[in-house]
Amino acid sequence: MSSLSGKRLVIFGCGYVGSALARAALAAGAQVEGLTRNPKKAAALRTAGLAKVVVADLSTVDWHGQIAGGADFVVNCVSSGGPDTYRQSYVGGMQSVLAWAAQGPAPVSTLVYTSSTAVYAQGEGAVVDESAPADGATPNGAIIRESEILLQQASVAAVRRHFILRLAGIYGPDRHHLLDQLRAGLPVLGGSGSHRLNLAHRDDIVAAILACLTAPAAIGSGIFNVADSAPASRAEVVGWLAQRLGRPAPGFDGSTTARRGGAPMPDRIISNARIQRVLGWQPQYPDYRAGFESILGTS
Ligand SMILES: NC(=O)c1ccc[n+]([C@@H]2O[C@H](COP(=O)([O-])OP(=O)(O)OC[C@H]3O[C@@H](n4cnc5c(N)ncnc54)[C@H](OP(=O)(O)O)[C@@H]3O)[C@@H](O)[C@H]2O)c1
Repeated sequence: MSSLSGKRLVIFGCGYVGSALARAALAAGAQVEGLTRNPKKAAALRTAGLAKVVVADLSTVDWHGQIAGGADFVVNCVSSGGPDTYRQSYVGGMQSVLAWAAQGPAPVSTLVYTSSTAVYAQGEGAVVDESAPADGATPNGAIIRESEILLQQASVAAVRRHFILRLAGIYGPDRHHLLDQLRAGLPVLGGSGSHRLNLAHRDDIVAAILACLTAPAAIGSGIFNVADSAPASRAEVVGWLAQRLGRPAPGFDGSTTARRGGAPMPDRIISNARIQRVLGWQPQYPDYRAGFESILGTS
């Protein structure tokens, strides 16, 4: 296993996960550079100790001359940036990253892409591992899969090794929508309670990214799901949170979302067995109770 100390890490998309990754990598002695569209965020990242922060849209080439190629490590963790820029941020962003990497003096040693379990269409209680078809149940899932394929097809002259991390629903400090809804005392929540929630705590995601970056050279490019080890039904999670807060458990209105074209949320178990087996990653928050207990302890 290699170390981050003294290595150059470029983070594209310094949001919830990207900023936490930047802090962890700085603490581990890496030289961290980042890209964001947001000048205020850029100023905060510089104060936090990033060696360079460029303000630009990833899908453009405007930043290519400002961030030197040949980085040891690159992490692309941009999100959609809003409903109208889904393709621009994911597909356009990946195209731009790969064009930049190809122009560098040396290939990027390891590139990690934070994809999504939205690439899977499976439901009906299926256990979904990385060998499952990833055709995407929704147009947005298909766009993310398209950006995965771009990376999988990248030349080794641009990227020597890549990892695709298919993340489950992200939660953690300052991001806990269900808890917020319960604290607000809503008597009825939108959607259904019967499907399982596949969750991944922010800190476990950062640990998974670091495990990829520092994986021994003998471990080649690959895809890993990142989710906790015990998905539970949404009704169970809501019931537990309600009890923990001493409030009555709300009901569910059974509605579906336009985001999924009116289809119900899929009920499935995202398997994290492969990343545990290959990279030795273990979730610090193996179930929703551990994750929410840590959040309730601090906020
Ligand atoms: N949220 C989930 O539950 C979930 C589930 C599965 C996978 N994921 C994936 O996990 C990754 C990390 O998610 P997150 O929660 O950290 O997302 P986030 O908080 O929204 O941060 C992503 C960052 O990407 C930046 N960005 C978006 N489009 C950009 C563009 N065209 N150019 C430059 N920057 C751009 C955003 O804007 P600025 O910095 O410019 O403000 C934002 O800070 C993302 O790849 C996301 O797709 C998320």
